[in-house]
Amino acid sequence: MFKRKKNKDNYQLDMNNIPAHIAFIMDGNGRWAKKRKMPRTYGHNEGTKTIRNIALEANKLGVKAMTVYAFSTENFSRPDDEVQFIFRLPKTFFDLYLKELMDNNVRICYIGHLNRAPQATQEIIQAAIDQTKNNTGLQLCFAFIYGGRDEIVEATKKIATSLKEGKITENDITEDYFEQHLMTASLPPVDLMVRTSGEQRLSNFLLWQLAYAEFIFTPVYWPDFNAEELHKAIWMYQNRDRRFGGLK
Ligand code: FPP
Repeated sequence: MFKRKKNKDNYQLDMNNIPAHIAFIMDGNGRWAKKRKMPRTYGHNEGTKTIRNIALEANKLGVKAMTVYAFSTENFSRPDDEVQFIFRLPKTFFDLYLKELMDNNVRICYIGHLNRAPQATQEIIQAAIDQTKNNTGLQLCFAFIYGGRDEIVEATKKIATSLKEGKITENDITEDYFEQHLMTASLPPVDLMVRTSGEQRLSNFLLWQLAYAEFIFTPVYWPDFNAEELHKAIWMYQNRDRRFGGLK
């Protein structure tokens, strides 16, 4: 018997309708490792390879931005050794892949509270941002020590200060103005959000930005998410009817 070969070409994509910005909740690393009787950290390590694979494929497809939820403000409640391990992953990731990402014109960006990470982690991420800042391909954005509610509160505080200092009036506070104060201000609107591992919730990710995104929940664990799964997600996105509250 022949096994069906997994092939991304099974999904015919409309290259004129590629989502500009895809956000990923990379879930299931722990369960992926447990299934293999390995420690959870093994799953996180495999998860970093998936980030590289998906970023390169998304870049090839012409996706402009990809945001990955790598560590939430709530993840600090995990056991300390797991938290410490995740804080070392940026070094593992950039040691292995920064050159390749650079060669592929990928630009690294960041949302979250980098100043709450250990100094060494901050330096690694900042160096990757600096080194790739003139690249014009995919923006690979790490949401690391990030929380959606926190981001909205931070934006509100900045706007409140401008109001208090008389730099703006209440009428200046529009949705566009508010958006410019979010950490994602330089990124295109999120078209598609994919959460792996079968969980169906947002977990405080990009709460404002996902208002009109299409959602795809797949049972596949993040370490198993591959180019074929990306093509499938984009194909599903292209078969959705986006109306943005209007009629068609
Ligand atoms: C959720 O899986 C995944 C995370 C908490 C993210 C782990 C981080 C990475 C894969 C990459 C970080 C890389 C860089 C370069 C910053 P889970 O542990 O919740 O899985 P489970 O639900 O199966 O337990």
